[in-house]
Amino acid sequence: MKLKAGFIQFCPTFCAPAENIRKLRESLNRAGDADLVVIPELANSGYNFENRKQAIQSAEEIPNGPFTQFLIEQAKKLDMYIVSGINEMEDGKLYNTSILVGPEGLLGKYRKIHLFMNEFDFFEKGNAGLPVFEIKGVKIGMLICFDWVFPEVWRILAMKGADIICHPSNLVLPYAQQAVPVHGMVNRIFCITANRYGTERDITFSGKSIISDPFGITLSQASGLADEVSILALNIDQARDKMITPRNHVFNDRRPDQYPDMY
Ligand code: ACM
Repeated sequence: MKLKAGFIQFCPTFCAPAENIRKLRESLNRAGDADLVVIPELANSGYNFENRKQAIQSAEEIPNGPFTQFLIEQAKKLDMYIVSGINEMEDGKLYNTSILVGPEGLLGKYRKIHLFMNEFDFFEKGNAGLPVFEIKGVKIGMLICFDWVFPEVWRILAMKGADIICHPSNLVLPYAQQAVPVHGMVNRIFCITANRYGTERDITFSGKSIISDPFGITLSQASGLADEVSILALNIDQARDKMITPRNHVFNDRRPDQYPDMY
């Protein structure tokens, strides 16, 4: 089974959701024949807030906010599924969230579990678990940026059946992209990191969005500083074969009884 999937890399304009909608309209059109497209973290708002007021001004409710509605409208028009990072407001609280939308509307969301640096000043810690969704017979999980440091969440999504982990990001640490294909390799899944580029005050984001396969091979990687759209036909059957050798299964060979110190 094949799924055409990939990323949009762009540079969100800080605190300007309408401008980011304009930018993404063009990129989504370029990705037009994809089944699934992943867009970076906090794509409606940008990242480096100076205060909570700024973060609140560019947040929105899901699904009624204009950015979510725009993505749903594009998903219908282009007949595709879209995963996007979004600055979410619910009951006066902010979450660093990723949504999955499709022609049928909002399928669901994930809220970033592992916050990075100043995000603790603006966002609540994710409280929506690690859901897995099905699109066109393919299982999709979502993680956000700094979640790359925590192998537990990649493993849990893979064990819940995710064929692809979609990873909207605003990566800062220069070595982060190296970890993504390794998470994919040890869990036998595809990974799509959609990263942003550009600078906001003292933070420079590293681009280099990446698609990797279940053997840890990089199938596509963007440059560090340009808009880019990359869509590939992924052979999902490769993510369903969990045998490392004829006698080794990636999940069944785990020895949880020998890991009592883990938690
Ligand atoms: C990050 O989690 N945005 C580095």
